[in-house]
Amino acid sequence: MTQPLIDPFQRPISYLRVSVTDRCDFRCVYCMSENMTFLPKKDLLTLEELDRMCSSFVRLGVEKLRITGGEPLVRRDIMTFFRAMTRHLESGALKELTLTTNGSQLGRFAGDLYDAGVRRVNVSLDTLDEKKFADITRWGRLPQVIKGIDAAQSAGLRVKINAVALKGFNEDELFSITEWCAERDMDLTWIEVMPMGDIGNEDRLDQYWKLDDLRARLAERYTLTDLPERTGGPARYIRLEETGQKIGFITPLTHNFCESCNRVRLTCTGELFMCLGQEDNADLRAALRNFPEDDTPLEEAIRAAIALKPKGHDFDYSRQKVDGRVSRHMSHTGG
Ligand code: GTP
Ligand code: 5AD
Ligand code: SF4
Repeated sequence: MTQPLIDPFQRPISYLRVSVTDRCDFRCVYCMSENMTFLPKKDLLTLEELDRMCSSFVRLGVEKLRITGGEPLVRRDIMTFFRAMTRHLESGALKELTLTTNGSQLGRFAGDLYDAGVRRVNVSLDTLDEKKFADITRWGRLPQVIKGIDAAQSAGLRVKINAVALKGFNEDELFSITEWCAERDMDLTWIEVMPMGDIGNEDRLDQYWKLDDLRARLAERYTLTDLPERTGGPARYIRLEETGQKIGFITPLTHNFCESCNRVRLTCTGELFMCLGQEDNADLRAALRNFPEDDTPLEEAIRAAIALKPKGHDFDYSRQKVDGRVSRHMSHTGG
């Protein structure tokens, strides 16, 4: 029997996040610089290579695949890849196939995603104000995203909204975003902005909004009940008794959650990042390309990489900026 993937801190690794492209049709200010240069196509794993890579992880015990980017739905023919993963759902090896998206292409793909076996999508949306949305995404149009969310819900997908909490940007929308999600029966998760990339770091510090404060503001209007559940991920959840809605908090900076980390991240070039907030990574592409007929070297490379998974991130705004920062952009590892 295959040995499960266990890291040096006895954490079982059952969740793989896969960035299928570094490209995006938006340029969110905390994620990308305005003039991003993108990878040449030859450096990207092909869809067949992504399939081989993911299938090896599934064989090694990964039960949840989350497809990210950049924006995963701008990768050409990406539905071929989703459909290829359906076989792992059907065999029962994979429990969940899902994605994190900016929502812009959901209008086109929601039905196909459902048919491939996707049941939930996480959509990143930080504001409901069209002008502010255009500012923060630089290139995005809010109505298109809302149409995408509508299409997803009509297709039978459950939608969770991810909002990055930004002081002076969406503080004033705390209640309107909450109510909008409640009306549409969508869960909502707030994320503390993480110091990544080489862009706007000063602004990022100014914009850092502690989720403890956000929670205290919610408590002024709603009755909050802590929920014991953890989905194996970083989010902690509460329920708002008045709406019945679940709200998640992802707090890498105020409450470290790394002790229960269950995930690793594969980039579109085949690097495996063992932690979002560390630079350690392993090149899996060589093991994949050098042995086209044999997955054993790849699986050995995966095990060797997991054996190097660090204990946790060291994001930290309270220290010197350079210490607490990861220089790669969020779009490189897909959040
Ligand atoms: P579900 O629990 O399945 O809904 O998903 P999730 O919260 O794991 O995935 P999602 O893509 O919605 O995650 C939201 C954001 O949380 C990511 O884009 C990251 O910004 C952040 N995040 C997720 N996992 C980690 C992690 O391991 N470490 C850190 N620091 N942040 C993470
Ligand atoms: N800090 C926190 N979250 C971020 N995301 C992108 N960049 C950052 C950052 N610097 C989030 C997006 C999306 C997911 C892919 O990552 O809003 O939800
Ligand atoms: Fe694109 Fe998402 Fe990054 Fe925004 S956060 S630029 S939508 S990948």
